[in-house]
Amino acid sequence: MPGTKNLTIRSEEVIARCRTLAAFTETPGRTLRTFLSRPMRDCHREITRWLNTLGAEVTLDAAGNLRGFYSGEQPSAPRLLIGSHLDTVPNAGAYDGVLGVVLAVAILEALEGRRLPFGIEVVGFSEEEGVRFRTPFIGSRALVGRLDEELLNCSDSKGVSVRAAIENFGLNLRDLPWAQLRADTIAYLEFHIEQGPVLESLGRSLGAVEAIVGQTRIDLCFLGRANHAGTTPMRLRHDALAAAAEWTIAVERTAQNEPNLVATVGQIDAKPGAANVIPGEARVSLDVRHKSDGARRRATETLVHQAEEIAERRGLSLQSSVLLNQNAVAMDPFLVNEIEKAIRKTGCEPHRMVSGAGHDAMILAERVPAAMAFLRSPGGISHDPAESVLLGDVEKALECGLHLLDELAGSAEFQKRMCRA
Ligand code: GLV
Ligand code: MN
Ligand code: MN
Repeated sequence: MPGTKNLTIRSEEVIARCRTLAAFTETPGRTLRTFLSRPMRDCHREITRWLNTLGAEVTLDAAGNLRGFYSGEQPSAPRLLIGSHLDTVPNAGAYDGVLGVVLAVAILEALEGRRLPFGIEVVGFSEEEGVRFRTPFIGSRALVGRLDEELLNCSDSKGVSVRAAIENFGLNLRDLPWAQLRADTIAYLEFHIEQGPVLESLGRSLGAVEAIVGQTRIDLCFLGRANHAGTTPMRLRHDALAAAAEWTIAVERTAQNEPNLVATVGQIDAKPGAANVIPGEARVSLDVRHKSDGARRRATETLVHQAEEIAERRGLSLQSSVLLNQNAVAMDPFLVNEIEKAIRKTGCEPHRMVSGAGHDAMILAERVPAAMAFLRSPGGISHDPAESVLLGDVEKALECGLHLLDELAGSAEFQKRMCRA
C-alpha cells in the first residue's frame, strides 16, 4: 500500500482513538453513551478535530448524526458514505460502532490528501442500540426519512421525548429534512466488529456481510397484585416477577428448540422493588431474531402467546407493545463482491457471512446500496468491556478500505452508478 505513514502505526492510532472515545461516558469507570447525552458531545468534539485536520466539512444534523464531508476530485462529484454508530450499550466495549467511524477517518487520513472521483462522507450515527428510548436506529432512520412522529414522541425512563432530547441538545427539528440522504449518494459502507465467534473459528481476519437478520423488540408488562411478603399465603399470590421469570425460561427453551432462532429477555424491572413486597408489576424486554422474517414473526407470536397463558394461569394481566419490527436485509451484491476482492488484495481469504447483530447498514439499505465488512472479534465477545480487536486485523481492515476505494474508483459498474446519481 502506498503512503508515507505505515499502516501499522495508523492502526495503533485507530485502537488508541477507540479507547479515548470509550472514556466519554455517562457512568464513570464503565462505558455508556446514549443518544445525545453529554459525553456524546465530547465524542463529537474529538472526532471533529480529526476531521478538521483533513479539511473535511463537519456538521451535526438535526438527529445528532456527526457528518464529515471529504470532497471528491470535482465539486459536483457524487458521495460515498462510510460510517457506523457512536452510541453504546451499558457497560460497553470500546469498538462496537465506534471502530467503524474511527476506521473511516483513518481511511481518509491514509489517502494523504488524494481525491477520488467521488466525495466521501463519514457518518457517526447518534443512535443504533436502542438503549435510551428502547427503540434503535434513531440516527440512521433520519437519513432515510423515517424519524417520524411516533419515534419523536417516544420517551426515555425520565419522561424526556426524542423530540425534547434533540431540542435540549441545541438542534432544530425543522432541519430534519436536511439530514436525509442526498440524491447524489451512491453507496453506504460500514466496517464493524463481527461481535460473534465465526471469523475467529475459521482463523480469518475479515468477512464480507451478505445479509443482516431481522429483529423484533417488544416491551411486555406482567401486572399482578403487590402485597405483603409475610402475610400473603403462596396460593393466594399474583406475583408479577414470578410470572416474568417463568416466561423468561419459556423464551429460552423455545429458542433452544428452533434452529437459527435467538430470543433474549435482556431487561427486567420489578415494582415496587422491595424485599418484603410481592412484586405487583414486572416489565420485561424481548428481542427476537431469525434470518427468515416468517420464522421470526411466528416465533414472536408463540412467545407472546406463552406470556398470555402464564399471565392467565397466575391470575395476572399482560400488556405488550411492539417497539421494533425490522425485516432481514440483503446487502448489495456488487458491493459485497468488491469487499471480497478488496479483502483478497490484503492477502486474506474473505468469509461471506450473515450478521446476527443489527446495523445502521440495514436501515440505509432501504434507500442506497449498502454493504459491510466485519473484523474478527477475539473470543467472540461483544457488548461487554472485554470486547477487543487485533491490531493486525485493524491493519487489514484499513488496507481493505483503501483497496476498496481504489476498486470502486476504477469500476465501470460504479461509474455507471455515479452517472445515475
Ligand atoms: C446491536 O448491537 C444489536 O444487534 O442489537
Ligand atoms: Mn454496533
Ligand atoms: Mn451493539
